[in-house]
Amino acid sequence: MVQSRFLQEFAQTLTAWQEQHGRHDLPWQNTRDAYRIWLSEIMLQQTQVSTVIPYYQRFLERFPTITDLAAAGLDEVLQYWSGLGYYSRARNLHKCAQAIVSEYRGFFPTKQELLETLPGIGRSTAAAIAVFSAGGKAAIMDGNVVRVLSRVFALTDSIADPAGKKRLWHFAESLLPDTRIESYTQGLMDLGATVCTRSNPRCHLCPFEDTCKARQENRIAELPVKKTKKPLPLRETIMLIVMAGNCILLEKRPDKGIWGGLYSLPECPIITGEPVGQTAGQYAKAFGTVDSCEPLMPFTHTFTHFRLNIMPCTVILGNPSGTLAGNRIWRTKEEALSLGLPTPVRKLIESAGNQDCLS
Ligand code: ADE
Repeated sequence: MVQSRFLQEFAQTLTAWQEQHGRHDLPWQNTRDAYRIWLSEIMLQQTQVSTVIPYYQRFLERFPTITDLAAAGLDEVLQYWSGLGYYSRARNLHKCAQAIVSEYRGFFPTKQELLETLPGIGRSTAAAIAVFSAGGKAAIMDGNVVRVLSRVFALTDSIADPAGKKRLWHFAESLLPDTRIESYTQGLMDLGATVCTRSNPRCHLCPFEDTCKARQENRIAELPVKKTKKPLPLRETIMLIVMAGNCILLEKRPDKGIWGGLYSLPECPIITGEPVGQTAGQYAKAFGTVDSCEPLMPFTHTFTHFRLNIMPCTVILGNPSGTLAGNRIWRTKEEALSLGLPTPVRKLIESAGNQDCLS
């Protein structure tokens, strides 16, 4: 049972700690501009602050207002997102910008319940926007928050379990202070990211050093309770780096599904028992006469729900021919690298021709 005085003091202690020791100069702080706050919160989902900062700055230079973003083409938005991963975030961002412009005359709603109805904005992101843009009283919940609350109060609920998740949300809401909600919310984020880290937490810097239940009971390593992780299924694909002269063949992926709307490389399925080079060479005949076909080192890319074993193969065409499907384009390496590409594809294209093929 958690003592009620301890519950009441939690917000006060955390808020005071944030104001004295927390982060105050992140690029999305010190503003009430909901557009900038929303953009940062979407980029920060599953992505570290240090990775986000340069993307955030470049994105805002190109799309300084929500109207600029809504008016842009999805291709360009994906280009500015390229490398951040989880591309559905960018597609929803674009959709959301258009909805805000058309339904709200370009002004973000400030209420959590309304924000949550918009594309790509879940309960916690809606709360963060409501807090930072308007001082609304709303609870956030992400991996960092679960870790802090689970440890300080020795909670054993799991966010992966629907009943546990409901209790965690309810508990987080019960802790909310009536004042300085911005510092409190930022404090949860700061404590989770910089002090109450998953491994080697810096308890000597924590304002709850003496009151943290997990610390008192020597249970830091076991809290928060771990999800039982199933191994991810493994898929395989042959990815073709098809080159003719100084051009590379690209393929735009369908809007739905992995890497939706991004440019990628043509792929063909593996044929069991057949060497990759042979399968790739056979497949590439559709694009012209095949001069050479050279398999490269395979590697694995991990998605949320599966792992993809990518077997790259460089194909040099002597003479490109045939009509290209509408989603395929030839581009120079430089042009290709300026497009929205998934990171593993970008790496393959960067190394293309560094072997011997491009003159
Ligand atoms: N993670 C999610 N939102 C954040 C924010 N506003 N500041 C720092 N890290 C965050």
